[in-house]
Amino acid sequence: MKKKLVVSSGAGISAESGMMTYRDAGGLWDTYPVMEVASAEGFAANPPLIHEFYSNMRKKMTANIKPNAAHLGLVELEKYFDVNIITQNVDDLHERAGSSHVLHLHGELMKMRSMKHPERIYQLPCDQLTDKGLVTTVDTRDPYGDPVRPHIVFFGESVPEFEPAAALVQQADILVVIGTSLVVYPAAALIQYARRETEVYYIDPNPASVPDWVHVIPKKATEGVAELITLLTK
Ligand code: APR
Repeated sequence: MKKKLVVSSGAGISAESGMMTYRDAGGLWDTYPVMEVASAEGFAANPPLIHEFYSNMRKKMTANIKPNAAHLGLVELEKYFDVNIITQNVDDLHERAGSSHVLHLHGELMKMRSMKHPERIYQLPCDQLTDKGLVTTVDTRDPYGDPVRPHIVFFGESVPEFEPAAALVQQADILVVIGTSLVVYPAAALIQYARRETEVYYIDPNPASVPDWVHVIPKKATEGVAELITLLTK
């Protein structure tokens, strides 16, 4: 029976793939007024602006943005552990790296959903990745003619996947937090759900302050994950 290893990843794990983080210098929230483009009120006030913001983010998911060695290292760990990935990221780099179990706390960039029937979720045609980026002329209506919205959790909205994520952390033998500033809740609270006997690691070159029972690896994700694999498999 393999030990359960749970990963909680943030924007930092995608940084070395070329994706911007949110709060590093020059990050997304330096460029866009976060509460206008990522909040429920912002979307209600100006849907075209939000569709443009996420289309621009998809544009960045050009053919050049690929999973990096950190994403691939987490797939490698599946040889040794029962791995579950919880991510705050809306990109699909964990999936494209080959991770078997990925849970998106804040939604998925490549999906839209009906505003009238939220259970109707549409995968964007990601086979249209070009060197100019994903085809971003996203229809804002679904085949039924109903308006659609990004399948993203906006600030001010509930995080329906949090309970299942917390349950995964509670069952974890090892928890690995990677590349998150730990400022956005409830995602930042996941670390508190680890049992006393759970080994907790935090990989981040500029780590936020964490309790002293957390093993901090103050390195970039690619280096930190490589170090962790050596540590956990020796
Ligand atoms: N490797 C690992 N971590 C890195 C790297 C790297 N190469 N580069 C930067 N980081 C770290 C930063 O030190 C920081 O701690 O990644 C973290 C990025 O923090 P944020 O930009 O705040 O991203 P995140 O924590 O994922 O944001 C959480 O906020 O805006 C919302 O919904 C959005 O999911 C997002 C949430």
